[in-house]
Amino acid sequence: MAIETVGVVGGGLMGSGIAQVAASAGFPTRLREVTAALATQARGRVERSLAIGVGKGKVTPEQRDATLAHLTVGTDIGDAASCDIVIEAVVEDLAIKVALWQEIDRQAPPRTIFASNTSSLTIADMAVASGRPDRVVGLHFFNPVPLMALVEVVRAITTSDASVDAATAFVRRLGKQPIAARDTSGFVVNRLLIPYMLDAIRAVETGVASVSDIDTGMRLGAGHPMGPLTLLDFVGLDTTLRIAEIMYTEFRETRFAPPPLLRQMVTAGLFGRKSGRGFYDYSAEPPRVSAFLSR
Ligand code: CAA
Ligand code: NAD
Repeated sequence: MAIETVGVVGGGLMGSGIAQVAASAGFPTRLREVTAALATQARGRVERSLAIGVGKGKVTPEQRDATLAHLTVGTDIGDAASCDIVIEAVVEDLAIKVALWQEIDRQAPPRTIFASNTSSLTIADMAVASGRPDRVVGLHFFNPVPLMALVEVVRAITTSDASVDAATAFVRRLGKQPIAARDTSGFVVNRLLIPYMLDAIRAVETGVASVSDIDTGMRLGAGHPMGPLTLLDFVGLDTTLRIAEIMYTEFRETRFAPPPLLRQMVTAGLFGRKSGRGFYDYSAEPPRVSAFLSR
């Protein structure tokens, strides 16, 4: 069950990174977005990331050109569905993901493996609904995909050994480090990381310290590359809210409950970097703490 071609569905933050990594590993890669305008934006994300890589001397101009030559971006779901593996990176919503898998199943050959990049949904729910329960795995990449070495490989109770083996071998061909995780909401990393980020929001809510001091504390006191509030802006507050809601529904543990401030910020359209404002305001360089948080 060798994987030679890769379909990616959803070209946002994660899908564009996954497509970049697959194309740069030499796989013919087909990235699918919903509209032509979103497809153009997705291609632009890959081009910008490659340009930064070239600027930093980590990607050669030849590697950039080869990556872009391996990548097709469009709106036809059939193009992605005809590949040996299809990886979905659409919004964190079970109903949307299930509808998508059912649509892809109608067009994909029987051999195709389905992989979800979900952060917090259980793979079994998608596997059962997909029409091919033995061929669905979780492949959980980390943001930013071109720079983060880990991929969690998640086996649902219905997944065959052959699918897990093929997906793990594929992750290695991408140059990433796989770890095997059980199909429990949040897998390994988000089970630990999400409560930590939510606790940082609670620290802001209760006035433990300022936004910038909380971030500086965790950078300089715990050696994290980014403070938790910067990381929240980086992940996307909308995505984090969905993840917290799903994990709280699953476990009913208060550590996963979304804090009111997170909900209010999402309602106000403060999604973090992607919308220009979250805990920080990105209209300034360097970004400043958002004005409403320093009042
Ligand atoms: N292409 C290739 N290489 C690049 C690049 C690009 N576009 N951009 C940067 N690099 C290289 C740099 O040259 C540098 O390489 P060396 O270490 O060999 O010198 C390295 O990548 C780091 O780059 P920078 O120095 O520019 O950036 P940084 O040191 O500020 O690191 C970061 C950036 C890797 C994002 C770092 O801040 C980090 O690790 N942050 C935390 C990210 C994190 O926790 N992600 C997980 C989020 S949670 C998640 O994803 C799961 C979920 O379900 C929500
Ligand atoms: P995002 O909002 O940046 O991108 C989602 C993209 O999916 C959008 O561009 C949207 O147009 C597209 N889309 C929606 N429905 C589609 C469809 N039917 N067909 C094709 N495209 C469709 O979100 P993201 O941050 O990239 O997250 C995507 C997935 O990855 C989620 O499941 C999320 O939980 C997971 N994830 C996110 C992160 C993170 O740090 N943001 C990390 C790991 C995993």
